[in-house]
Amino acid sequence: MPFLNTKYFSYYLLHWTYWKRRNIPGPLGVPILGKSSTMLDDNAPPGMVIREWTKKYGKVFGFTDGMQKVLVISDPQLAHDVFVRQFDNFYGRKHNPIQGDPEKDKDINLVAAQGFRWKRLRTITAPAFSNNSIKKVLSTIEDSALEFLRHLEKTAGSGEAVNMHLYFQEYSMDVIHRIAMGQPGSLMFNNPLLYDCKGFFENNRWQIWMLSGAFPFAVPVLKFAFFALGLFGAGPFKNVLKTVTDTVTERVKQREAEQTQEDPQDFIDLFLDSKADDEIEHFGEQNSDFHKSAVSNNRQLTTQEVISQCFVFLVAGFDTTAIALSYVVYLIALHPEIQQKIQEEVDRECPDSEITFDQLSRLKYMEYAIKEALRLYPMASFANARRCMRTTQLGEYTVEAGVDVQLDTWSLHYDKTIWGEDADEFKPERWSSMSNQPSFLSFGAGPRQCLGMRLAILEEKVLLAHVLRKYSFVTNTRTQIPMKLIGRATTRPANLYLSVKAREF
Ligand code: HEM
Repeated sequence: MPFLNTKYFSYYLLHWTYWKRRNIPGPLGVPILGKSSTMLDDNAPPGMVIREWTKKYGKVFGFTDGMQKVLVISDPQLAHDVFVRQFDNFYGRKHNPIQGDPEKDKDINLVAAQGFRWKRLRTITAPAFSNNSIKKVLSTIEDSALEFLRHLEKTAGSGEAVNMHLYFQEYSMDVIHRIAMGQPGSLMFNNPLLYDCKGFFENNRWQIWMLSGAFPFAVPVLKFAFFALGLFGAGPFKNVLKTVTDTVTERVKQREAEQTQEDPQDFIDLFLDSKADDEIEHFGEQNSDFHKSAVSNNRQLTTQEVISQCFVFLVAGFDTTAIALSYVVYLIALHPEIQQKIQEEVDRECPDSEITFDQLSRLKYMEYAIKEALRLYPMASFANARRCMRTTQLGEYTVEAGVDVQLDTWSLHYDKTIWGEDADEFKPERWSSMSNQPSFLSFGAGPRQCLGMRLAILEEKVLLAHVLRKYSFVTNTRTQIPMKLIGRATTRPANLYLSVKAREF
């Protein structure tokens, strides 16, 4: 026993001092946990904390997050190296052991998968986000936007302060519920799934993250406590998973009973259609997908995999788009001259009641504003992280296999040497001269860049076009300036109270 204790003590001590022993600066935290408590504080979003650390320790530093060794970078060249040039060495995403084993779990999702399993999932799911597929769902998105407008009209003009973030959550939930899971018709302001999806992000599950990060060998027990006993704030997660599981299972049965093949109606159909007759019951280590040569052969998803992908698209699609809308609307309310320019563009390019795909693609200035808001608030920056799979050289640093590299997107996005002296300002115009700025990383970069990027921007454009041709957003006494930012996986405004004013023509 004493031997065991000494062994574990040395193991944890060596881990905790990993960066110090390599002369790489960074916050030390406490033994075993490292800085994991800081990474899990809803009131101090990790992206903002990391930005402060960069100011203190420089463009490359390290810290430990439980048993994860994290190297933080905010140098554009190193970022390009990790996300694009050396993708073969950094093809995993930083993940906590409670998220599952990317190599073995049958129910792995695209965000957590790695290697050839990731490649296979990405190849199969990507067509759902192609231009063609997005065009097909445009009328559904527009219908949700019009429903949104009907709700907004009830308060518009009253001068009443509305928490727009909650409104945008209703909209983004409505859209993704309909296009991913085939919800027939709008459930806006009456959707029980929204409550659970919000809980998924807002509920405090930090204890299970911290414990599994520090004691990965305890994950089976923690999972049992979470799934079987419902501990650690499991409720919303389990409810969303159950809804998705029931919907997919029901669809499988329905398709088997009907035996007819209609055009795919939603992501579930698209993913099931990519599945051959026989399910792969024993997808796992023996599966040939783990060998490079077989990757493109197997275009089939098991029902379990369909459930996992729908789950991740539902939660990723709902939360991010609502937050992105909140930031752009906050900024245009603070800058009425920019809002007016967007409105003039909408009036010019979208004269008919229905808005077409081509018209949306001509809303250039609106798109600049959307990107500029995401530059100032790269709210999903936490996902911009990779796991080193093979020891390699990153600039002057040797990065060992197993180390996680976290990009400090916030520092990069405010770097005056990249964006100019006005980097702190909201200036959509800056985008007119740079269609492709490699240091804009709100959607990540390289082969694992956000799959929903085009869908998210389109959803934003449809809603803004419909709302802004009738109304303007204005600040009021309840508007928090500057906004208080909160959140862990994503950084969201604590609230966004604005008034909605009818435009005068
Ligand atoms: C404004 C809205 C959004 C933002 C800012 C955002 C941001 C991000 C970021 C930063 C990443 C990590 C990229 C990387 O590691 O290089 C990511 C990945 C991902 N996003 Fe988004 N996202 C948004 C909307 C969406 C939507 C609407 C969906 C789907 C419905 C989605 C699905 C995904 C998926 C599946 C991944 C993982 C891709 C992979 O690992 O292959 N996202 N997103």
